[in-house]
Amino acid sequence: MNSSSPVAAFGSTTQHAHLKKEVFFSKGGWLIPARERALIDSISSGAATYGEVMPAGILRLLEMLSLDGSSTFCDLGSGIGRVALSAAMHSRAAGVVGLELSDSRLEQAEAAAEVLSGLGVPLRPTRFVSANLATCDLEAVAGATHYFMCSTAFGAALCRSLAERLSRCPSLQVLVTSRPLPPQPYLLKVGQIDGVEYSWIANGLAHVYVKSWASAPPAVLARFLCRDGVCWAPPAGPAEGAWRRGFVFGDDLLAVAPAAGQ
Ligand SMILES: C[S@@+](CC[C@H](N)C(=O)[O-])C[C@H]1O[C@@H](n2cnc3c(N)ncnc32)[C@H](O)[C@@H]1O
Repeated sequence: MNSSSPVAAFGSTTQHAHLKKEVFFSKGGWLIPARERALIDSISSGAATYGEVMPAGILRLLEMLSLDGSSTFCDLGSGIGRVALSAAMHSRAAGVVGLELSDSRLEQAEAAAEVLSGLGVPLRPTRFVSANLATCDLEAVAGATHYFMCSTAFGAALCRSLAERLSRCPSLQVLVTSRPLPPQPYLLKVGQIDGVEYSWIANGLAHVYVKSWASAPPAVLARFLCRDGVCWAPPAGPAEGAWRRGFVFGDDLLAVAPAAGQ
């Protein structure tokens, strides 16, 4: 069984079987009171629709993000908490935050965190916060470096507003979304990850945005700009029009040169 297998990731012991049942394969996220559904739909144009990143997809995203002790991870619309709790279990992030408008989903996420803690599963410090993504102060409620949103059912206006407000967050380094952002001038797309499993598609994409090339975390840039020891550097400014090519050995950059033909 390879390491990206959900079963390998979440274990095969009785404890983890219990975990999967209680936390990750709960049907509860799909069923919320009509009052909550109406509230969320009115704010986010249909966003009460539920869907999830599957365990293997979560691990693929976490691998790309390379969270460490300087990172805070936030799931925007955290549902019953599976992405946030997976980050809490499987990353080295300093903290994990889930923001969610549905009280019943929030309660389930909190209950899942308690189940995990009760079973002695080590978790990075995690909190679930009741927040409306359309209006909340993201820096104040999350203050995260790395954000994820399973945004497939979010309206364009909500996604554009989130991009605009995230771009003003001093802490933001990376945003990963299940759907490309609508046209917007606030965040820069650096690449996309394929093979991400969602509850509605086995081989989906995740789209990766940063504020600028200069502020993007090296681990994320390396994922998209380096292959076989060769890295491509974007122009440092408008005057320097061409991408450059660099050769790396371990962490050392050996040479940077204009790309052939430029
Ligand atoms: C597609 S689900 C994703 C759940 C989780 N992130 C995952 O991938 O497993 C989207 C979640 O966003 C929440 N949501 C939608 N609009 C929201 C809003 N304006 N503020 C906060 N949460 C919202 C929904 O209630 C739902 O739980």
